[in-house]
Amino acid sequence: MRKRYLAPLVLSVLFFAACGGGEKKAENADSVSTHESPAADNSMVSPSADKPVSKGEKLMAESDCKTCHKEEMKVVGPALKDIAGKYADTPENEEKLADKIIKGGSGNWGEVAMLPHPQISKDDAKEMVKYILSIGKK
Ligand code: HEC
Repeated sequence: MRKRYLAPLVLSVLFFAACGGGEKKAENADSVSTHESPAADNSMVSPSADKPVSKGEKLMAESDCKTCHKEEMKVVGPALKDIAGKYADTPENEEKLADKIIKGGSGNWGEVAMLPHPQISKDDAKEMVKYILSIGKK
């Protein structure tokens, strides 16, 4: 009859022993897997950071042009690159395109009209045209 009280005792000793062994194993594995990860390159170097910004580009950034024109891609209006490809950088074209920016209109690229920009001076519009026509010709 005394054996009956022994059995649970033995079992619980075994249980604790097994548990202790398991913990030790986990500790060992932990200390082995402490790796130093290689230092990541976090430098935020932007390639265009020190590119000089022309007056026309700045004027366009301050106006609404970028809602309809992107440099590489047609949005509402043609890509600036495509405009540069269509017109040679001549004083006549500068004049004509500056007027178009101020007065708006459609027909040269399709049905969609460019909004007029009466608040933009002719000189500023010409600076923008010079910038647009310089794209892709650098
Ligand atoms: C509401 C949209 C919109 C905005 C804002 C806009 N454009 Fe346009 N732009 C157009 C569309 C559409 C055309 C094509 C017009 C056409 O087919 O003749 C165009 C054409 C042009 C052209 C070529 C014109 C031609 O006759 O080939 C130039 C240059 C131009 N835009 C410059 C600008 C500049 C600079 C600004 C900012 C001051 C501006 N655009 C703002 C929609 C826009």
